[in-house]
Amino acid sequence: MGKLVICDHPLIQHKLTFIRDVRTNTKDFREHVDEVATLMAYEITRDIPLETITVQTPVTETESKVISGRMLGLIPILRAGLGMLEGVLKLLPAAKVGHVGLFRDPDTLQPVEYYIKLPTDVQERELIVIDPMLATGGSAIAAITSLKKRGCTQIKMMNLIAAPEGVAAVQEAHPDVDIYVAALDSHLNEHGYIVPGLGDAGDRLYGTK
Ligand code: PRP
Ligand code: URA
Repeated sequence: MGKLVICDHPLIQHKLTFIRDVRTNTKDFREHVDEVATLMAYEITRDIPLETITVQTPVTETESKVISGRMLGLIPILRAGLGMLEGVLKLLPAAKVGHVGLFRDPDTLQPVEYYIKLPTDVQERELIVIDPMLATGGSAIAAITSLKKRGCTQIKMMNLIAAPEGVAAVQEAHPDVDIYVAALDSHLNEHGYIVPGLGDAGDRLYGTK
């Protein structure tokens, strides 16, 4: 079973409150999402492997650590995942980016894939799938399934807010995937929205409602 990590750093929790607040305007919403994404990137990379190299300081030669192992890939789920991408790239500027376009049919709540474009070496990378919302889990499961079909094996999921239903669904469908969230909320409402949540992440990021 993949682990669920709640990134409970006070700065993340503080900014999340403004993200949830219905009075927060599009500009401030976008900025807070960007900042939380950067802070979450710090948490999600906590266990990436290091190796020791020798470096010459101005004073002496010494051993010091650098990141080793697989290169990283970031996979935002369009469109709301784009709102977190730049924030993650601030800490991981060398990561390559693949895009998966999915929307949730408002009636069936089933994900519909309309676009996918991945780095050519995506199979060799450790991937972080990025989406602010994990509601029913349908979009996350579809995105991860698409990646696995293309040979990807090392995948983590990063969400601002998750519903318990979505976490359980992803853990069942993809037990090898660890999920990192800023908050685990109460439940889904009858429209498949997370309660208390933040509303429609894409609409709030891009001012489309
Ligand atoms: C939202 C969100 C997730 C999905 C979560 O996207 O960004 O991708 O819903 O719901 P699920 O867990 O039930 O699948 P949406 O379909 O609204 O598309 P958008 O990002 O283009 O606005
Ligand atoms: N997608 C959103 O943007 N918000 C929700 O609460 C659920 C799905």
